[in-house]
Amino acid sequence: MMRVSWERCLGGGVAAIAIGLLHACGDHGTTVPADGAGTAGSPIDHSGHGTGGAGGHSDLPAAPEMLPVSLWDGDLSLPELADQDSAPGIVEVTLRAAPAEIDYLGGTPTTVWAYEGRVPGPLLRAQVGDRIVVHFTNDLPEPTTIHWHGMRVPAAMDGTAAVQDPVAPGGSFDYEFVALDAGTFWYHPHVRSDAQLEQGLYGAIVIEDPGEPLAELAAEVVVLSDVQLDPVTKALDDTLDARVSMMGREGNLVLVNGRPSNLRVASGSDRAHRLRVVNAASARFFDLMVHGGSMVRIGGDRGLLEAPEPVSHLLLANGERADLVVIAGESAATTTLVAMPYERAIGAGTTDLVELVHWSSENSGATDAWEIPDVLRPSDDAAADVGADRSLVLDEIAMGPHFAFRINGAVFPDVPLIETQLGVTETWEIVNDSEMDHPFHLHGFFFRSIGQREWKDTIQVPAKATVRISPSFDAREGAAGTWMYHCHILGHAEGGMMGEVTLR
Ligand code: C2O
Ligand code: CU
Repeated sequence: MMRVSWERCLGGGVAAIAIGLLHACGDHGTTVPADGAGTAGSPIDHSGHGTGGAGGHSDLPAAPEMLPVSLWDGDLSLPELADQDSAPGIVEVTLRAAPAEIDYLGGTPTTVWAYEGRVPGPLLRAQVGDRIVVHFTNDLPEPTTIHWHGMRVPAAMDGTAAVQDPVAPGGSFDYEFVALDAGTFWYHPHVRSDAQLEQGLYGAIVIEDPGEPLAELAAEVVVLSDVQLDPVTKALDDTLDARVSMMGREGNLVLVNGRPSNLRVASGSDRAHRLRVVNAASARFFDLMVHGGSMVRIGGDRGLLEAPEPVSHLLLANGERADLVVIAGESAATTTLVAMPYERAIGAGTTDLVELVHWSSENSGATDAWEIPDVLRPSDDAAADVGADRSLVLDEIAMGPHFAFRINGAVFPDVPLIETQLGVTETWEIVNDSEMDHPFHLHGFFFRSIGQREWKDTIQVPAKATVRISPSFDAREGAAGTWMYHCHILGHAEGGMMGEVTLR
């Protein structure tokens, strides 16, 4: 068993090896204030130092200043879509996209586009094997669709222009599919995906498997994103300047479940917190770290890992998910999940550290006792190299004041179609020939990096690096058809870095 705490007792020098044993260590009164989080209402300045125009992009406009966010008390709960079908094995929900008003900062509401009036949209929760039916209505002023990111849906349900006519304003569409995999997934539009997502259209999906390890450990779903607000009017700022065109849009307000970061949640007696984290931001990466505690990664894009992995930090690129256990340090008054600056392109992502969520440990005597098993799922062989069937070269070129993003020298829809067969496993070499990172996402199928065992649907491809992946085009029902792959910095995708694969 992996014990969930490696903190040492202050007095005894004996490792407290399990949360359930912490009460035996004594001297819980000695606490160290963590990160200056202080008391309720103490202002923590989040203004970033926009380093716009640094390095090779000195001609770009400066990044916007981050909006200040004070420490505030709240919780992480996300409303869920109500199942309207009482039959077991069927989850039937209605989902409406429409303009809405969201008061992000208190005082002045912002007009956004939202699912069910909320940003993020309500959580869709089901169990593996359930048939999910979503009665979707579009009350936006423009066409839209829904893509079920990471879910192995039938091609016709994938929500791209390749497989469905966008749902017109006033129109509706029923999405229907079976949840084949347990894990954390998410939903978002696939029409003008950058602009529609930046307006507020995204939501999380949790598919539970009651038979898997840790199923009894309730998880909070944490949807990370950001929004760009005019500092005075609080209206959405959708300016598309050369910086946004090149870097994608990083908003000036980081959101945790749709509310400003720097959120303090009551942790009761719990010292361990299981989080299912989704990076739903249009362009911002989250390089997660825990201050005043530690973290163990137990799952990723396709549910649980084979084995838990203690990590000191975890880079979550756009579209990726992580299942984490955050463990309060025994001597820390506050445990904080933070996002470290991460320069994914010269001058992008270099705002100051952002404090996301604080847990305070008033109650360190009473603790929960549970363990993370050494084995979380049966192990697979590592992905074998079957030779590079395909090579996809990512780059960008200046096009007047803006930038075009290319795959193999072409801009979508001119990127050559890949045609292959269901039932095969291929090797794709993703060559990033640009100076910025591009998270690569494939619809409808999981892949592994060559030599790795973890199944993913989105993978970070660093600047000037090559990543070799092995997609498995499983021949399930409804999988024949055309699927998309693209950079998940959505401005890059819409700027051309998208392609299609047709499976027969
Ligand atoms: Cu979340 Cu086409 O992607
Ligand atoms: Cu990109």
